[in-house]
Amino acid sequence: MRRHLLSAGDLTRDDAQLVLDTAEEMRSLADRPIKKLPALRGRTVVNLFFEDSTRTRISFEAAAKRLSADVINFSAKGSSLSKGESLKDTALTLEAMGADAVVCRHWASGAPHLLAHAGWSRSSVVNAGDGTHEHPTQALLDAFTMTRHLGPLDGRRVAIVGDVLHSRVARSNALLLRTLGAEVTLVAPPTLLPLGIEGWGVETSYDLDAVLPKADVVMMLRVQRERMNAAFFPSVREYSRRYGLDARRMATLQDHAIVMHPGPMIRGMEITADVADSDRSVIVEQVTNGVAVRMAVLYLLLGGSEAAIGGAEDRPSGGGEA
Ligand code: NCD
Repeated sequence: MRRHLLSAGDLTRDDAQLVLDTAEEMRSLADRPIKKLPALRGRTVVNLFFEDSTRTRISFEAAAKRLSADVINFSAKGSSLSKGESLKDTALTLEAMGADAVVCRHWASGAPHLLAHAGWSRSSVVNAGDGTHEHPTQALLDAFTMTRHLGPLDGRRVAIVGDVLHSRVARSNALLLRTLGAEVTLVAPPTLLPLGIEGWGVETSYDLDAVLPKADVVMMLRVQRERMNAAFFPSVREYSRRYGLDARRMATLQDHAIVMHPGPMIRGMEITADVADSDRSVIVEQVTNGVAVRMAVLYLLLGGSEAAIGGAEDRPSGGGEA
């Protein structure tokens, strides 16, 4: 059975919980002297990256290796072929090499869906970030990190702050957090909130100071200047003053509240260095948890025969249960 992880919205609550529970088991491996499992021995995972990445690519590589899979890193940066052609040719090549899973990051929203559904290959496809669309494993590692600190997320308040318009992290988090019962507030200047946000099932606010005292989690987003072709705010100074997290603002949080950031951070812009390095910050933990969560995803997609995560259309009829 072919299975993919393309959108956080494809995950039922049971699917998501299965990933989080499996990740908890994978995470406990990190404390053992031998961190490797034989689960994916003889399977091949290809990291297909059409866009810059540090932590996501390394994280998937570490995850696959800890499960004993063979890993091929394919960095397609600089390819001059047209999008459809190059993706198709690449997919055919990977298929011919016997890839079992393709982890795809692409600057074009929808590229991993094309890879999964165009019929070019039989591999499982994992979306590792497509354009401004989705980044489901980031949302899963974020939910995992939140759960470790706060317990079940039902009724928890999560503020996602900054460049929501260009953020696949925000979109995947909004989808997954809703499934897990959390209340999400997206905080941004009006120019950085997407059109049609009413359909996301979240609250929105332009006023960070009003949202912070009620939040259990504050997730700061990077301002994605590489995706901006216009002026979305007057100046960096102005942006930081209204939407940056600094020590004064952090002091208005509840005692148990945590501060998150998917990285890469622009210290001094959306977050000050003292906040990023404070006790409340779980940013480094997010990176550690990312490996465990991606191990869980690869294991469930490739390993367990009854694993039921991934696109609804690929699920056996009556599926949805773990
Ligand atoms: C994010 C991404 O690439 O979508 N980073 C990540 O995966 N850790 C967010 C960003 O680039 O700002």
